[in-house]
Amino acid sequence: MIYRATDNSLQQAPRLVTRLPGPRAAAWIARDDQVLSPSYTRDYPLVAARAQGCALEDVDGNVFLDFTAGLAVTSTGHCHPEVVEAIQDQAARLIHMSGTDFYYTPEIELAERLAKLAPGEAPKRVFFTNSGTESIEAALKLARFHTGRGRVLSFYGAFHGRTYGAMSLGGSKAVHQQGFDPLVPGIYRLAFNCSREELDELFARVCPADTLAAIVVEVIQGEGGYRIAEPRFLAMLRETCDRHGILLVFDEVQTGIGRTGKMFACEHFGIAPDLLCLAKGIASGLPLGALVARADLMSWGPGSHASTFGGNPICCRAALATLDLVEREYLANATQRGAQLRSGLDRLAADSPLSLGEVRGLGLMQAVDVLDESAPTGGQPLDPARRNRIIRAAFERGLLLVPCGRAAVRFCPALCVSEAEVDAALALFAEACQASGEVG
Ligand SMILES: Cc1ncc(COP(=O)(O)O)c(C=O)c1O
Repeated sequence: MIYRATDNSLQQAPRLVTRLPGPRAAAWIARDDQVLSPSYTRDYPLVAARAQGCALEDVDGNVFLDFTAGLAVTSTGHCHPEVVEAIQDQAARLIHMSGTDFYYTPEIELAERLAKLAPGEAPKRVFFTNSGTESIEAALKLARFHTGRGRVLSFYGAFHGRTYGAMSLGGSKAVHQQGFDPLVPGIYRLAFNCSREELDELFARVCPADTLAAIVVEVIQGEGGYRIAEPRFLAMLRETCDRHGILLVFDEVQTGIGRTGKMFACEHFGIAPDLLCLAKGIASGLPLGALVARADLMSWGPGSHASTFGGNPICCRAALATLDLVEREYLANATQRGAQLRSGLDRLAADSPLSLGEVRGLGLMQAVDVLDESAPTGGQPLDPARRNRIIRAAFERGLLLVPCGRAAVRFCPALCVSEAEVDAALALFAEACQASGEVG
């Protein structure tokens, strides 16, 4: 049985009872404004209080339909009872013991599970982290350590995280890197879905293939706009890495753990990486990440890399419960509801070709470009300002969405989302698009 909200007041999302933001939310935001880092990017004044499934209540009692899943994180739905039970049970047994210094069973069980699940025939080993960016850092360090090479190739539009190595690999928005020089050296960049000729030119002119430790790529660019890798592009990268002893790193921080209807997005392409980076959906909202590597590549020894909190027992128990649920029932639901969401967005885009552009994505990872309606017809330019107004108008109707890319709206609900919730979200999104002309 797919998970649904059990609390009466959360069952009829959306249900708005105040103007937005309500008085309590406004007061909390004023306090936040005094003490939180101004680097955070809040798209609208939502102050979350509690949630179940895809329903989220704010501090004023307004109930929203959450199509963000906390940025593609609460994969099994907010506060799934099996995840909550695993967390509570583990919290009463053992909260922490530092898995890089001692042994405890949930970490071993989860590593065994991930090693078995990860694509590719070869045996795997796992390094646990607390976040996506740390999984990328671990991959970078291991790739340099194992190959003895210093250089790395990444792609325009990529987002890999905020720590120095991951940030330096990024190529999605200048603001992510601006003011933070010097970045990690030795990083080269090509267009996502580049051609064989472009890759060969890079190798011939500036970066011989045998100086590369790794090629790091998202199977579907997330923050970059839900752009899907072409099968021939991934096949070319796999072949190039095999030929030149380069490690192929798939950043599946956002696409992994069932989001696309398969456990890992690369399974749609039949291509396995050497190193697989995970985080976000893996523990349904608890901070956990993982680097899953071919066992023969984990050639580093004690002391080379570690993390005090990485693989925390509570996070590992939450992840084991998450994997149970995803394997048992959510892969099929993500495929079915993803197809429903996709055809609904395709229909909306076809009905308003001057307003909505390309729809992209796989499974429950879908985005649609927002166009400038007022531009002369033909070759409609993207309209980031209108995209932001649509997201705001959706919020004001009780639907939570987030942006991605230059002017796209992303839909990444929890994998338990129901048919009725997808229909409701599509209707609210259509209303928000209509209203966006007046809202600004
Ligand atoms: C593809 C991808 N990689 C890495 C990251 C960084 O993850 P975190 O914010 O957990 O460090 C993100 C976060 O959005 C992501 O989407």
